[in-house]
Amino acid sequence: MKLMTDGSEVKLPAKIPEHVAIIMDGNGRWARSRGLPRMAGHRAGVDNLRRIIEAAVEYGIKYLTIYAFSTENWKRPPAEVKGLINILEDVIDRELKSLNENGVQLRHIGRLDQLKPELQDKVKQAIKMTEKNDRLILNVAWNYGGRDEIVCAIKQMVSDGIQPEEITESLVGRYLFTSDSPDPDLIIRTSGEMRVSNFLIWQGAYSEWYATTTYWPDFDPEELLGALHVYAQRERRYGRISGNVSSR
Ligand code: FPP
Repeated sequence: MKLMTDGSEVKLPAKIPEHVAIIMDGNGRWARSRGLPRMAGHRAGVDNLRRIIEAAVEYGIKYLTIYAFSTENWKRPPAEVKGLINILEDVIDRELKSLNENGVQLRHIGRLDQLKPELQDKVKQAIKMTEKNDRLILNVAWNYGGRDEIVCAIKQMVSDGIQPEEITESLVGRYLFTSDSPDPDLIIRTSGEMRVSNFLIWQGAYSEWYATTTYWPDFDPEELLGALHVYAQRERRYGRISGNVSSR
């Protein structure tokens, strides 16, 4: 049993994944089911993110990666794209102080270059301000796409003059946006969709998956805990046979 800061007690599994990544899907359907505009769903998604980050810290997760905006999300109606950009700015303005006080280190994966320069600076300052924190590393995937990430890595390797015989899986990993994070142990997708959607396609090669029909705004710390218990039951074989697995 572990005593949470709100006074409740939870039963944590013996094995907690070091790195959890989440596709926070279903904000639009959550809003529609309540007769609300889609942006209300995204705002409810941010409220939920706050409580999931707090729970992740309490459960002892070390790395949390969240898919906030994909390279494909630019194809949404302009008003929604603008709304999601505003949310990024709002989250930094309103949440940074509390994230920092709670020992959360903010990182960004993806590309910032399509944002206005002031917002790029704001993101970079937030990263700088929290760089010494180590309770939880929060990777925000914003304008992130797994294929784009691999293309960027290849371009950089070519420009660095890397020779074919020097290329290994570990070297490729060091050229990805996630070079400072371990591969995700557990990837969660909410809202019932069963797709990878260009998320961590290299890093997720051996991740365990947890899919739930719950829409993201309703995915609460209790369900996260349930996902951790499911994960703890899994045997990760990395291609080996059962009973012959110690680590990767
Ligand atoms: C998917 O739901 C959700 C998104 C594309 C955006 C997720 C963003 C947040 C929760 C805000 C967090 C942002 C930051 C910057 C930390 P959907 O719109 O595809 O839902 P639907 O499939 O039901 O339409």
